[in-house]
Formats: sequence, C-alpha cells, structure tokens
Amino acid sequence: MTAPDANFDARLQAAVQSVQDLLARLLGSGILPDETARPERLMAAMRHGVLNGGKRMRPFFVLEASRLFDGPADAALRVAAALECVHCYSLVHDDLPAMDDDDTRRGQPTVHKAFDEATAILAGDALLTYAFDIIADDATVLPAETKLALTLKLARASGLGGMAGGQMLDLRAEKETPDEPGIVTLQAMKTGALIRFACEAGPLVAGAAKEDVERLADYGRKIGLAFQLADDLLDLTSDSATLGKAAGKDAAKGKGTLPALHGIEWTRKRVAGLIDEAHALLSPYGTKADVLKAAARYVADRKN
Ligand code: IPE
Ligand code: IPE
Ligand code: MG
Ligand code: MG
Ligand code: MG
Repeated sequence: MTAPDANFDARLQAAVQSVQDLLARLLGSGILPDETARPERLMAAMRHGVLNGGKRMRPFFVLEASRLFDGPADAALRVAAALECVHCYSLVHDDLPAMDDDDTRRGQPTVHKAFDEATAILAGDALLTYAFDIIADDATVLPAETKLALTLKLARASGLGGMAGGQMLDLRAEKETPDEPGIVTLQAMKTGALIRFACEAGPLVAGAAKEDVERLADYGRKIGLAFQLADDLLDLTSDSATLGKAAGKDAAKGKGTLPALHGIEWTRKRVAGLIDEAHALLSPYGTKADVLKAAARYVADRKN
C-alpha cells in the first residue's frame, strides 16, 4: 500500500518551496569569498533558467531519500539545490539552437530567447560550476568524506560518461536510429544518471549503509528510465500548452525513442513495469517509503 496522495502532494509542495527559496538566495547578488563580482546580466539569465517553475523532482528525490534514513534536512536541501543547478544547466543547453532549438521551457521563453545565445551558454557553464561550489561550501554541513563522495558521484553523473555523454548519443540518434539497448543506454545517461544521483545522494547524506545506497541507486535507475519514457510519451501524446515546452519534437526529428520503436501501449506498459520494480526495491523500508513510492507513480502519471 502506498500513502494517500495528499501526503505526497503536501511533501512535494513543501520541497518545491524550500528548494525555490534556497535557489533564489544562492542566486542573489551577495558575493561569496573569492568571487569578484556577479555580473547582473549573467545572474539574471541564471535566475531565469532556474527560478522559472519546474517540477523539482530531482530535489524531491534527494530530500525524500535522505528522510528515509533520517538524514540532516539542511544538508540534503543544499545537495538538492546543487543537483537542480546541474539539471537546469542541462535544460538551458538542451534548448540551444545547436541542440534542440526550443523557444519555450516551463511555459516561458528559453534562456537564449529571453537573453541571447552567448549568455545562455555562460549561464549553463556557471550553473554547472555552482553546483559543486554549493556542495563544497562550509554551509553544507556534512563530513568531508561525504562531500567528496557526493562531488565525485555528481561529476560522474553529469559529464562524459553521464548526462553530457548521453546528450551526445541523443544527438546521434536523430541521424542513426539506435537499437533498443542503444536507446536504453542513451536514456540511462542523458536522464537516468542525474535521477540515479538524486536517489543515492539521500542515503549518502544520511550516512546510510552501503547496501541502502546501492538499493536506492537501483531504485533511481528504474525511475530514471521511467522518467524519460514518460517524457517521450508526453512528447508524442500531449500538447505544447500542457507541457510548457514544444510537443511533437521527437517524431519531427525522427529521433530513436522506445515509443517510436515499440509504440505507445508497449511503452506505457514498460513504464508501469518499471514503477512496480521500483516499488519492490523499497519494500524493505515499509510504510516509511510511502512518499517515495507515490513519487515513483507520479513520474509515470504526470501530465507535464
Ligand atoms: C525535462 O526534465 C528533461 C528530461 C530529462 C526529460 P523535467 O521534466 O524534470 O523538467 P522540469 O525540471 O520539471 O522543467
Ligand atoms: C533532455 O531530453 C535531457 C536533458 C536535458 C539532459 P529532452 O530533450 O527530451 O528534454 P525536453 O523534452 O527538451 O525537456
Ligand atoms: Mg534533447
Ligand atoms: Mg529537448
Ligand atoms: Mg523530451
């Protein structure tokens, strides 16, 4: 049995608010030691790319997975904000003309539309770097070895063998249609890696046992794949107004996705199967994992 959705809704809403408040503070005009100045235009572009809504699912997974092991809420919130900076950077760059060339994100003009391309590139660069600043900063109160482990895992999830590498494979999938294992690999990288990090960061912040970190990483792998499959389904079946971003892009570009390969019904069943598998992984934690179970369902059922 999972928790009533009201509980999930309240927790998600609280997480969205606290992540928003912290990000707004972190992206404010107060300079940090060793910073010289914060150029107004770059900061405004970063704020546009970050404080513009967003479901904040990755931060939510960090917070809830930390809570499952009674982790320190303040440190988990900072790690959640750091991860959201990486995610928002990935969206700012994903939308650039050289990549998906999108004009709308989260119901607003994309950063390169609201500002310009060079500013959007720099905003992405600065967000990525800031993520590691946020984790390393003394304000993130965790043992040094935990901060080091989080830094390494976030770097690996974001870079060559993770999100950025996955984006490279994704661009290639517009030209050469990959087979099913190829699609699964690219999705595990471009989307899965950051979501896996979101789920394993919680137990790491909490200093949980290795087997718990591994179990939550497995949960994150299932959720990550389900998340991108749901995104691909929405791209195919929803509309731009509901999504707050352009719909129908993947088919127009002939992109190799699992819905393109196997159809909508097959993909819906696959998403449902992944959510069942994710739930099963949480069974050792009993009702304490109810909100995380509801989060898995939300990933599959969301409308945007
Ligand atoms: C969109 O991510 C990009 C993908 C990896 C599919 P989200 O659907 O989490 O976007 P926001 O953050 O809520 O806007
Ligand atoms: C984006 O995948 C993945 C990353 C940003 C890393 P998509 O290109 O499908 O995401 P949307 O649909 O633009 O949000
Ligand atoms: Mg893309
Ligand atoms: Mg895109
Ligand atoms: Mg998409």
